[in-house]
Amino acid sequence: MLMDTIEREILSNHLKSWILQAGKLIRDKINDPRIISFKSNPNDLVTEMDKEVERYFAKKINEFYPDHLLLGEEGYGHEEFNKKDTIWIIDPIDGTMNFVHQKQNFAISLAVYHQGVGEIGYIYDVMNNTLYGALRGNGAFKNDVKLLPLTNESITLNQSVIAFSHRLLMKNRFINEKYMQQLTEDVRGIRSYGSAAIGLARVAEGALDAYITMRLEPWDIAAGRIIVEEVGGIITNASGKEIGLLERSSVIATHPDLHSILVKKYLQKGLKRNRRK
Ligand code: IPD
Ligand code: CA
Ligand code: CA
Repeated sequence: MLMDTIEREILSNHLKSWILQAGKLIRDKINDPRIISFKSNPNDLVTEMDKEVERYFAKKINEFYPDHLLLGEEGYGHEEFNKKDTIWIIDPIDGTMNFVHQKQNFAISLAVYHQGVGEIGYIYDVMNNTLYGALRGNGAFKNDVKLLPLTNESITLNQSVIAFSHRLLMKNRFINEKYMQQLTEDVRGIRSYGSAAIGLARVAEGALDAYITMRLEPWDIAAGRIIVEEVGGIITNASGKEIGLLERSSVIATHPDLHSILVKKYLQKGLKRNRRK
């Protein structure tokens, strides 16, 4: 059963006030000395702030919604999930490298899925104090201003601005770089933000026409997916298939006019064997 409207409204108000508070916590400490650790490699950073923010949400959920589950990047949540559960999916700081090096261009990404359906998604660009959000079926907004449906304007590939990492233009294990080089020639511009959540929010607001990436975790995608879909954007894996809620996946999020051409002409052809997810 889908979540009822009033229940979702109350939940959304909680999410919103907590995410704004967590953002303030980060801003207040932005110039404090950082303790940085490395995760899978020396470029995969985590700080005490990532952990503190996730703990903050874990505590709130535990206090107000003890029967809800949490999937969080830093591991303060649960480990097993059932399709019937109400699951909060949190990336406490998406764009930790930006957080550490730039002190900006990072976001808190927070979503609630109920029985596998995305109900509420929020992406908070903390230093710009910009909150993107969506409630299923109610459209998406940016700081309380409703975002326009992407279908209001049509777009062609040669007029488009798209985002992906420069690494895909070099030899890499995911995709034949020639296809990404050709794509670079075929579009108007390429951008790279260093935060998946911000990339997805930019697609939803029409500032980017597509965002492509080869490997994201569920917490990178969960909120952005709801927001992008609420404005009529398309989000799938790089082969054009649906992304499972709890799976690691490649992602392409686009204006609806561009999904098919990007998947068929570049991604499907370029993807390396056994990288079709
Ligand atoms: C990372 C950012 C980055 C993306 C990486 C993510 P993190 O998240 O979203 O843009 O390319 O794949 O892991 O580690 O800063 O939360
Ligand atoms: Ca992330
Ligand atoms: Ca993170």
